Amino acid sequence: MPARLVVLVSGTGSLLQALLDASADPGYGASVVAVGADRAGTLAVERARAAGIATFEMSVREFATRQDWDVALTQTVSSFEPDLVVSAGFMKLVGGAFLARYGGRYLNSHPALLPSFPGMHGPQEALDYGVKISGATLFVVDEGVDTGPIVAQVAVPVEADDTAETLHERIKHAERLMLVDAVGRMAREGFTISGRKVTIP
Ligand code: GRF
Repeated sequence: MPARLVVLVSGTGSLLQALLDASADPGYGASVVAVGADRAGTLAVERARAAGIATFEMSVREFATRQDWDVALTQTVSSFEPDLVVSAGFMKLVGGAFLARYGGRYLNSHPALLPSFPGMHGPQEALDYGVKISGATLFVVDEGVDTGPIVAQVAVPVEADDTAETLHERIKHAERLMLVDAVGRMAREGFTISGRKVTIP
C-alpha cells in the first residue's frame, strides 16, 4: 500500500502538482489522499479537484480562536488517516494539537537554505543579504518557525539581476524535485529522527 499523504497548501500549488504527478506512478510509494487549504479559492485546491482528490478549506477566521482552528485542522486531517502530512506552501503555523498528533511526520518545504532566512520572505531576505547561493530545505516541523530537523536541502545560484520573484521561481524548480525525491524515499524506505538528524535508510 502506498503511504497516505495529506498536503496542506495556500497558493498556486506547484509543489502539490509535482507530488500529484509523481504519485501517478504506483512505484512512487506515496499517494495524495487529501489536500487542505487555509483559505478559499486557491489554485492549489483547483489542481487537487482536477485530479479527483478530496479537498477541504479551513480559514482561521471561521473559528473563535486559533486553538479551535488547530484542533479542527487536526481532526479533519486525521479523518484521512495520513502517514505523512506535507506543508507545500502552507502559510500557517500549526499549533500544539496538530503537533501532538503529527509531530515527527509533518514536513515543510522552505525556499531558503535553513537556518538562514526562515519565515515568510526567504527569497527576498537572501537577495537583500547578498548571498550568492540560496536554495530550499525540507524539514520536520517542530514548535519553532522553520527550526525543525532537516530532511533534505538543494542549492540554487543567485543571479546578478535576480528579483525576489525570479530567484523564488528558480528555487521552486529545484524545490519540487527535492520534495518529490525525499518524500518518495521516506515513503518507500521509512526514516528515523534522532535529535536533529533525519536518516532515510
Ligand atoms: C514554495 O517555495 C514554498 O517553499 C513556499 O511557497 C512556495 C509554494 O509554491 N512556502 P506553490 O504554491 O507550491 O507553487
